[in-house]
Amino acid sequence: MTNPPATGSREVMLEPDELIITKTDPTGHITYANRIFMRIAGYSEDQLLGQPHNLIRHPDMPRGVYRLMWKTLQAGQEFFGVVKNYTSDGNYYWVLANVTPDYDSQRRLQGYFSVRRQPTRRAIDTVTPIYARMRDIEAAAGKAAAPDASLAWLQEELAKQGHTYDSFALTLLDETAQERSA
Ligand SMILES: Cc1cc2nc3c(=O)[nH]c(=O)nc-3n(C[C@H](O)[C@H](O)[C@H](O)COP(=O)(O)O)c2cc1C
Repeated sequence: MTNPPATGSREVMLEPDELIITKTDPTGHITYANRIFMRIAGYSEDQLLGQPHNLIRHPDMPRGVYRLMWKTLQAGQEFFGVVKNYTSDGNYYWVLANVTPDYDSQRRLQGYFSVRRQPTRRAIDTVTPIYARMRDIEAAAGKAAAPDASLAWLQEELAKQGHTYDSFALTLLDETAQERSA
């Protein structure tokens, strides 16, 4: 299935207490979606189950972010990130996402699990220019080299600020937690 055309340009917001939850199989095909995801993304359960999760991929999102996400998950670790997604009618929404591997009792990988909430405006403003730069780097690098090129730039850039990707993501998370408890 292809992404919808970029006709809409309205930002759809989650309520402060709303969580978007999905599960996938080990190849990233959706096996579960909660009602909030269906409402925000604008798809029915039938339209979602079995579909690859890139169904909602927004073209402003750098490939390097997903490269890092998959590397992290495949190393058995959890990933945090601020992500822009498409709705079915071409609008968009931002989430602060946590994605984790989902294991059974014998530590066999069942798939992946993601919980997302509304990020702060500050977190969105922090990542927007970073993602735009990564997209520029990707356009210049060509398709095959794009994800690694933009990811290398991101990691170098964060290192200059004394951050790893994980410590950077935690600042986005802390900020959101602080705003919620204020
Ligand atoms: C549990 C889980 C949740 C995901 N959530 C999203 C999401 O919200 N938006 C998105 O674009 N990709 C999401 N992905 C990543 C997609 O599978 C895909 O890698 C990404 O959209 C990039 O598309 P591409 O691999 O075709 O380049 C998720 C993957 C997993 C395993």
